[in-house]
Amino acid sequence: MQIIRRVDRLRTAVSLLKQQGGQVALVPTMGALHAGHMQLVKEAKQRADHVVASIFVNPMQFGANEDLDAYPRQEDADAAMLSEAGVAILWAPDVDQVYPPGFATSVSVTGISDGLCGAARPGHFDGVATVVAKLFNQVQPDIALFGEKDYQQLAVIRAMARDLNFGLDIIGVPTVRDPDGLALSSRNAYLSAEQRAAAAMLPRAMQAGIAVIEAGGPVGEATRGIEQALLAAGFASVDYVTLADAVTLEPVENADRPGRLLVAARIGGTRLIDNMAVNAR
Ligand code: PAF
Repeated sequence: MQIIRRVDRLRTAVSLLKQQGGQVALVPTMGALHAGHMQLVKEAKQRADHVVASIFVNPMQFGANEDLDAYPRQEDADAAMLSEAGVAILWAPDVDQVYPPGFATSVSVTGISDGLCGAARPGHFDGVATVVAKLFNQVQPDIALFGEKDYQQLAVIRAMARDLNFGLDIIGVPTVRDPDGLALSSRNAYLSAEQRAAAAMLPRAMQAGIAVIEAGGPVGEATRGIEQALLAAGFASVDYVTLADAVTLEPVENADRPGRLLVAARIGGTRLIDNMAVNAR
């Protein structure tokens, strides 16, 4: 596996891969890789002939009070995992290769970026859309893979790729979970043992709420039940519990179409998010 940090070298390496024929897949990450990321790589290997993974902790998607400096960085361990998994190129750009001096462009996908995590983290999805647009232009893949764990991010990226004619397929990959149901996330590393045990209430409460909604129970009662269960389990606060249209992410009042239940809640100083499908009745 080649580790590349400069755009000109990346361009040469990707065109050499393309000369060999077949499709190129991109798996964008911010590193601190876990089994969820490796599932993206596995899926990429099945769908394409060459896999490029990127690691870039993107300052533009972190707010002023967020954890940019504390965000886990472990490039050597990540590179070993990617190499072992058969990745051809690790694109680990220096910051000036993504944001050169004078960089003044922002990609904003309005509407779908505004609610849910976008409301709690102003500017976050502009940062995501901007860096992903840059990664698409730098790597020029045929497909790109993202986890459904960040469901709103996936929706924002799909909208951006469609609106700006990126001409590549965006593939969403189902969330990988620990045996107790907690979605894998780099942020789980911040949890104490006690918080980690309590965090298992998140998927459990969501499943209970979905059972109520799918049985025709009131959505408000189900979402309030989830919030109460999280607070009782030791979560400090709940940012949102929302039933949304699975495609537009507009909040909905009943399960008359394919839906998505989305939750963000804080345990200690750590903000956890999760989402699950809700079947139409
Ligand atoms: O999901 C992530 O790890 C990041 O938001 C992404 C898509 C790599 C953009 O920085």
